[in-house]
Amino acid sequence: MSRLFEPLKIKTVTLRNRICVSPMCQYSTPDGVAGDWHMVHLGSRAVGGAGVVMVEASAVSPEGRITPDDLGIWSDRQAEALAPIVSFMQRFGAVCGIQIAHAGRKASTAAPFKGGHPLSSSEGSWQTLGPSAVPFGHYPAPRALEKTDLDKVKNDFRDAARRALSARFEILEIHLAHGYLLHSFLSPLSNRRTDEYGGSLENRMRFPLEVVRTVREIWPETLPLWVRISSTDWAEGGWDPDMSVELSRRLKSAGVDVIDASSGGLTPDAVIPVGPGYQTAIAARIRREADIPVVAVGMITDPVQAEHTLMTGQADLVSLAREMLRDPYWPLHAAHRLGQNVAWPAQYERAKPR
Ligand SMILES: Cc1cc2nc3c(=O)[nH]c(=O)nc-3n(C[C@H](O)[C@H](O)[C@H](O)COP(=O)(O)O)c2cc1C
Repeated sequence: MSRLFEPLKIKTVTLRNRICVSPMCQYSTPDGVAGDWHMVHLGSRAVGGAGVVMVEASAVSPEGRITPDDLGIWSDRQAEALAPIVSFMQRFGAVCGIQIAHAGRKASTAAPFKGGHPLSSSEGSWQTLGPSAVPFGHYPAPRALEKTDLDKVKNDFRDAARRALSARFEILEIHLAHGYLLHSFLSPLSNRRTDEYGGSLENRMRFPLEVVRTVREIWPETLPLWVRISSTDWAEGGWDPDMSVELSRRLKSAGVDVIDASSGGLTPDAVIPVGPGYQTAIAARIRREADIPVVAVGMITDPVQAEHTLMTGQADLVSLAREMLRDPYWPLHAAHRLGQNVAWPAQYERAKPR
């Protein structure tokens, strides 16, 4: 039996295998409401056999969008549009997750395929928010959040969790990575606050942990709560793997079930040693030292590589992003490659390799 295709039970939810579709922004909706594209894109990956399909970063508020085209979860209408997509994916055996996010100081930009630049006022820019008025690279400086703003952000995350539940998602992932709002509280490079939310590691972790606890109050104990972190900023004086281990321990105590260990995104000039499985070693360290299940992500493309990552105890799950765009049926092909007999959708049964 391959480890990749061994089912995994987390809380009350059983995954048919250890393969996740990593959250990927589609920048394909003008109003944050999922549409045909999402049904086809996400649905294909459920049909393709993934254990978990994680819906892209979904903004908890309009100002928390990366771009005007982001998916949102700040209104009931947005949750209602996701519900039939979740239902379709479940029919094909996938467990559905959604990543809830606030882009912070990296908000108000154009979609990558529309240039990716910070929006001008004529393009409909909005005021971005951050722990401090420290800009991301050449982006406009964010407004530093005041105490009342922090309460609003917490409430937005809580309401997003409630809506995700109403759409029948079974996994909720909070986005603490890639330089977005919650990560920017963690990193000393973006958080220069002098109140109890800045300075020491303890203080910098305070707000993200408050958000996680607020969400955990709403998200049922029986369902898995995941957190995606950037395990390092890859930058001098920034967030690092030691801090990630400590944060992961705190997240575990706050009721988080799985750490999804990504990296980077906090500063545009980070030097990242990108290569096959380049983030896996830190995931393995978090798994070992914080004693919590982890997802390894980052240039995992080959079934044998994925199997090796799990067999060697480096991770509990693997998450694939770009490879899943190249091939939505990657899990079905991987099963064949690893000699596993998995069910194909009845409609495609005649194409199954024998
Ligand atoms: C088109 C695209 C959109 C992405 N959007 C998100 C996102 O919404 N949330 C997130 O945490 N990561 C996002 N990522 C990062 C991926 O989830 C993943 O961590 C990264 O691409 C590394 O995995 P890979 O080498 O398998 O592509 C995105 C990546 C791509 C290529």
